Parts: sequence; structure tokens; C-alpha cells
Amino acid sequence: MELLRKLSEAAGIPGREDEVRAIVRGALKGHVDTMEVDRLGNLIAHKKGKGPKVVVAGHMDEIGFLVSHVDEETGFLRIEPVGGFDPRTLIASRVTVHAQGGPLTGLIGTKPIHILTEEEKKKEIRIQDLFVDLGLPGKKVARKVRVGDPVTLVQSFTQVGDLVSGKALDDRLGVYVGIEAMRRVKRHQADVYFVGTVQEEVGLRGARASAFAINPDIGVALDVTLACDMPGVSAHEQVTKLGKGVAIKLKDSASISHPGLVRFLVDLAEKKKIPYQMEILPRGGTDAGAIQLAREGAAVVTLSVPTRYVHSVVEAAHVDDIEAAIKLLTTFLENCHQADLKL
Ligand code: CO
Ligand code: ZN
Repeated sequence: MELLRKLSEAAGIPGREDEVRAIVRGALKGHVDTMEVDRLGNLIAHKKGKGPKVVVAGHMDEIGFLVSHVDEETGFLRIEPVGGFDPRTLIASRVTVHAQGGPLTGLIGTKPIHILTEEEKKKEIRIQDLFVDLGLPGKKVARKVRVGDPVTLVQSFTQVGDLVSGKALDDRLGVYVGIEAMRRVKRHQADVYFVGTVQEEVGLRGARASAFAINPDIGVALDVTLACDMPGVSAHEQVTKLGKGVAIKLKDSASISHPGLVRFLVDLAEKKKIPYQMEILPRGGTDAGAIQLAREGAAVVTLSVPTRYVHSVVEAAHVDDIEAAIKLLTTFLENCHQADLKL
């Protein structure tokens, strides 16, 4: 889990994934035949085999912000979202502004409740209204911070009961599962590529370019999915439940999983006694959506780690589900040359 901690605490907004990429590269060293970085920043790791050609994708980027305005008088910053945070979860948090001269800690504060009018209390929170306080005079801030500097939320990774919780588990969990499977895979016929993709949160962009280059037969996206097994959500709207195993996705708004792959994964999970659940996600997508449409198309599926509080800094996942995801992916890679992809 030390690797997952490092991945979770690293910063990497879309387009600025370098810190995460360095960790992935270090973790895969010695476990793959080649590693390359393409022009977008995707890390493409290759474990050679006879075929079929399989792409496994986990996105390295996390939702975050760019500095959009520096108030030279007061020193307060304004921020532009890159990916979809729920603004309700942002108030009263610490951020890191990744300035050229080094990281600066900032605060997202708000007017104290004591002075809010009845009307203000009811108003919805909008990201445009938030500001970052660096605790420095305006002139100093103007010297240190530039428009475009990345901003990420601060949150340490921690164990909570049977869960692990932290920021950016979407999708450092997927990256972690991919790395672990690449390390554990023994005999395989498949020609396996693990891609640490970039810019997923702004439209599956890294997956699109890397899948075009690799031209896979099969694509497996690794991502988190909603686990809404919490008070106030009825059973039919929970999507997945924590502790019930890795989720094999049937559909989300970006892809429909290949029925042959779904069948194959379900059979494998049954045979190897790996806990699994089926997933239909009404809104949202994964890299599978882009891989599916690369060139003449690929058979795709997503293996998801059920996660509570997705797109907040207390994202939480069950350690057993993470292990189930690694196991299912590993055995899939060792056996997928036998999958029947006829429709
Ligand atoms: Co996301
Ligand atoms: Zn994701």
C-alpha cells in the first residue's frame, strides 16, 4: 500500500502528470520489456507476447485547478477547474499551488457563518466564487505565482477501518492495480501494454492517442466507480457496494463492454473464486470509451474499484476490492488469449 500512498499523494492535474509518471516508471522498472513516453505524456509500458494485443489503461491525472487570476493587491488567487470537483467539498480545504519556484500551501476559505445573511446561506457554492489564500502580501504573490500554475488539493492517504482513503484515488487506484498486475503476471501469450494515460478527466484524451498508436485487439480500462452504499441512497441506485469485489462494467455513458470479454471475466472470477459484482454506471465514462473507438475498434471492458465519495478528497475504497481487482486483471492477462470475442 506504500506505492498507493505515494500515488495518491502525488500531484498531477490533467496535462501535468509528470510527478505521477515518474512514480509509475520507477514501480514498473524491471517488470516490463520497454517503456516510452509519447507526445501527450502517456507512459506506455510493454510486456511482449505473441498476441492478442491488449491495452490496459489507468489514468494518471486527477481533477484539480489552474490559477486563473492573481490579485496583485490582496494576494488572493482565483482558480479554473480542470475536471469536475463538487464545489460543496472544496470549502475549508488546503491546496498546493505548484509555482515555478516551488510549491506554496494555500487555503480555500469562505466568509464565516456569523456574517452570512439568510439569503447567502441558501446560495449554491460556485467554483468561480472561491478564492485561494496564500497568506502572503499581494506583491509577493505576484512575484511567485503565474496564471496557469497547477493547484491540487492537500490530503494525506490513510486507513479508515477496512478502507483506504485519500485524494485522487480516481484514478491512482487504477494505476496501482495496473502496476501490481504487471508485476504479478507470469506466463502470458498476450502482447500486453500498460498505459498510464493522461487527461482522462477532461475527455479521455491520452487514451485516444495511445490506443491509436498501439492499435489493440482488446482494451481494459482500470478506474474507480461509484459505490453509493450509504445512507439516503436506495438499493437500486447504489451502482456498487464496498467489500463485494471488483466491479465488471457492463455499460457507462462512454462505452458498452464487449459481451465476450464480460463473459470471460465472469467465468475467470468464478473459477478462481475472486469476488466480483456487475456494474452499470448511468453517468460517467472511462478510458475504455476512447480505446473502443481507436482505428477499426477494439473489444473493451472496464474493471472498476468501487469507491465512495468519488471526486472528493475523502474517496474511499475497500482493501479487499483492490486485491480482487489486481487478481482478476492478473489472471485475465495470463489467460485472455483464450477469450472468445465472437459476437
Ligand atoms: Co474522475
Ligand atoms: Zn477516473
